[in-house]
Amino acid sequence: MAGLGVGLIGTGYMGKCHALAWNAVAPVFGDVERPRLAALAEVDQALADRKARELGFARATGDWRSLVVDPAVDVVSIAAPNEVHAEMAVAALRAGKHVWCEKPMAVALADAERMVAAARESGRVAVLGYNYIQNPMVALMRRTLDEGRIGVVNHIRIEMDEDYMADPQAPFTWKSDARSGHGVVDDFGVHPLSLIAALLGRVRRVCGQMAKPYPDRPLAEGWRRPVETADIAAALIELESGASGIIALNRAAWGRKGRIAVQIFGSKGALAYDQERLNELQLYTTDLPKETQGFRTILSGPHHPPYDRFVPAPGHSLGFNDLKVIECRALVGRIRGEATLAIDFEEGLQIERTVDAIALSAREGRWVEVPL
Ligand SMILES: NC(=O)c1ccc[n+]([C@@H]2O[C@H](COP(=O)([O-])OP(=O)(O)OC[C@H]3O[C@@H](n4cnc5c(N)ncnc54)[C@H](O)[C@@H]3O)[C@@H](O)[C@H]2O)c1
Repeated sequence: MAGLGVGLIGTGYMGKCHALAWNAVAPVFGDVERPRLAALAEVDQALADRKARELGFARATGDWRSLVVDPAVDVVSIAAPNEVHAEMAVAALRAGKHVWCEKPMAVALADAERMVAAARESGRVAVLGYNYIQNPMVALMRRTLDEGRIGVVNHIRIEMDEDYMADPQAPFTWKSDARSGHGVVDDFGVHPLSLIAALLGRVRRVCGQMAKPYPDRPLAEGWRRPVETADIAAALIELESGASGIIALNRAAWGRKGRIAVQIFGSKGALAYDQERLNELQLYTTDLPKETQGFRTILSGPHHPPYDRFVPAPGHSLGFNDLKVIECRALVGRIRGEATLAIDFEEGLQIERTVDAIALSAREGRWVEVPL
């Protein structure tokens, strides 16, 4: 297959991550054609020009609509703020492009449903930016669960915490604007939900809670603006399998930088993992003599594919951006017709339904069933 023509929309934190992944996927994996970095879109031409030079894209535009219809573009990376995902993804799919859209899929369930309909009609590949499920340590968790090494899972607990909004003086950005969604449930909650989808199956019902630690935040001009989204949330969850669980989310958690602490408890053992130590998996099994039982730490290495594609030596560690390269390879594989691990728009819609159910439950103070 000839190298895919890539169009990138948005070049902030995640846009750069996508650009690095598109630059790296061919040399890292060695089994895909080098993509052509065809075009990049930003909010204005000057910024687009500067970013195209930095990130290695051939053309730049201040108008994303011209990018999605560009004949040189086969696949569109959407790394712009949440509120524009739906409009951009639907336009790209209608123009016959494959789509790689950042999470959360959309800010309203109706938009996510429109995105699924557009993907179905187009027959193109449409996947979401759920990079954490691509960690080789998460793949090892999945194998461990599939092999029944910790028995029947009865409880899961996932805490996702960062402190980038912990300071009451942190400026008001699009993340505090209701147009970006409910807040931390869309911003963070979707990541634990993606891990649950990849490892354990569907969430059946939820009981949520959402909180705003600070009522307002400073604007650049020196004014303060009321915060419209929740920075803290939690949900009791029940899985289709019958397992119970808890998700706790906080983007105002001083000291926590990139914590996604996962604990999975089964009838014969337990697994523990934290994204802040993404090269380690902790495994406890009861098949050892009692006096030697205990959590043991497994360090990532070439025997945890595709770690071997990045570095031949064990214990030298993959990083956050590497997970995006793995996700990029999964997307290219899907386009080639391979059954790779990725969360597509159909599965993503189920995550959005769960987010919506958590928000509804928090508003109404009751358990809510997640519709299928
Ligand atoms: N998968 C992950 O781990 C992860 C991590 C962080 C952010 N995200 C997601 O990535 C998306 C972007 O977040 P971010 O942190 O990179 O934001 P950001 O603010 O750093 O970058 C957004 C970029 O989009 C550009 N942009 C805005 N409107 C645009 C438009 N109409 N046309 C073209 N460009 C436009 C902005 O100028 C900016 O450069 C969000 O949806 C966010 O939830 C995902």
